[in-house]
Amino acid sequence: MDLNDPGSTLLFAFLSILFVVWFLKNKQRQKGRLPPGPPALPILGNLFHVNLKAPHKSLIKLSEQYGPVFTVWFGTYPAVVLCGFETIKATLIERGHDFGSRYSLPIFEKLSGGYGIIDSSGERWMQLRRFSFSTLRNFGMGQKGIEERIQEEALFLVTAFRDKKEDPFNPDFLLKCAASNIICSIVFGNRFEYGDKEFLSLLEMMAESSQIFNSPWLQLYNNFPKIMDFLPGPHKRIFQLVASLKKFLNKNIQSHKESFQKGFSRDYIDSFLIKMDEEKHKLDSEFNDKNLLMSTMDLFMAGTETTSTTLQWTLQILAKYPQIQEKIHHEIEEVIGSCRCPASEDRAKMPYTDAVIHEVQRYIDLVPMSLPHMASNDIEFRGYLIPKGMLVIPVLSSVLKGTNQWANPESFNPNHFLEENGCFKNSESFMPFSAGKRKCLGESLARMELFLFLTTLLQNFVFNPVIDRKDINFSSVSSGILNLPRMYKFCAISR
Ligand code: HEM
Repeated sequence: MDLNDPGSTLLFAFLSILFVVWFLKNKQRQKGRLPPGPPALPILGNLFHVNLKAPHKSLIKLSEQYGPVFTVWFGTYPAVVLCGFETIKATLIERGHDFGSRYSLPIFEKLSGGYGIIDSSGERWMQLRRFSFSTLRNFGMGQKGIEERIQEEALFLVTAFRDKKEDPFNPDFLLKCAASNIICSIVFGNRFEYGDKEFLSLLEMMAESSQIFNSPWLQLYNNFPKIMDFLPGPHKRIFQLVASLKKFLNKNIQSHKESFQKGFSRDYIDSFLIKMDEEKHKLDSEFNDKNLLMSTMDLFMAGTETTSTTLQWTLQILAKYPQIQEKIHHEIEEVIGSCRCPASEDRAKMPYTDAVIHEVQRYIDLVPMSLPHMASNDIEFRGYLIPKGMLVIPVLSSVLKGTNQWANPESFNPNHFLEENGCFKNSESFMPFSAGKRKCLGESLARMELFLFLTTLLQNFVFNPVIDRKDINFSSVSSGILNLPRMYKFCAISR
């Protein structure tokens, strides 16, 4: 290299900087006694070790070499990865306080500003989570109120399916309408007709956001936010979409403010406004406009796509395995019959159906890397020191598909949740909702929706695929945050 040549001098300077960054990074790793991990390149980190289309698979592969606790570098920042049942139990459950904070990825930080339930930690998170949990429970999550709303929505879904007149259709959109309407009735106190223009645009915005959230663009954004801010691409669209969603929610919050009566709550927004009023003299109250907006947004974002995608997967699995569909129908006929709506209390008498729903959730592995966690303080764990503020990734997939946990983890088999005598058998390794303090806030609601929607649909229809059953492919199309299925059309044949 000729250092008199300006080009070579620049290249030399650039390489020297890369070397210093690399050196400092490795020094920091030694100093912090971070868990081991694959060698990281300066600036790019372990980008070449992680397949951005299915990062959880790359992480599980790396754990075979580096053990259940290891470090990877996403661009310039490190993350501790947790794999396997024993490790996730020992961290999220047994040391819930240490591992229970939320790491705000650059994209979420920018969109939420750290407000709301999902993206906050500490006192703010505790206040909002406690409030949201008890408010959902008071509206009947696990009790009557919400159950009736789901039963009613399930009948709307049946009507919409029947309107297809047994022609082939992709149920995805209608399933999203149904799941979203449950959140609408909790948050706003009302549901929308499936053809309502405002509702349609809300669903389109959420679907597009979800597509972008699950694309490699977002992974790239989170790895290199400063660079990506200057580059064009779909990641830019997410800011417009979220701004429109906020506008829609703000309009509804405003109309609640105008019509709400103190001491009488119609829905989640009213309950939040009551709490804001109670704490209006408290200077550091977390019950303010920003947290109201972001918490309602969180319920929409976390509660629509998750449940509807699980139902979409379920119908695909049942269309592929007609014998499983028939066995569920047989149980429905025995326990519920055809004259009344399914109810939550039927579940205890329907072990096979319960086992199928559990197996669907295990097999589809919907949120394979959970949401990002963060070390709440300096943590000593298995001889390593994980510094406060470090990103922690619990790979739920490694538990849901763990070879030590399940007889045949890669196959769909309801027997994973059945005793030999046909009784339902639960498992500690069933963690599609994650585990510990940060476990999904909507778990009971989601479980109730999955049971009631599925049994009501199967009470009324047989689902037949349009293509040959053996061609239904269960490999996901993308798995950024969610494992998304390929889309197929079905015929819903009336019983
Ligand atoms: C099949 C359906 C669902 C699945 C598989 C699911 C799964 C998850 C997972 C894995 C997390 C991350 C937990 C962690 O950080 O470790 C989560 C968080 C969350 N979920 Fe769900 N979820 C579902 C449905 C719902 C529904 C219907 C709601 C609406 C009420 C909801 C609201 C939330 C909220 C607010 C959080 C954040 C909790 C926190 O940060 O404290 N989820 N969910």
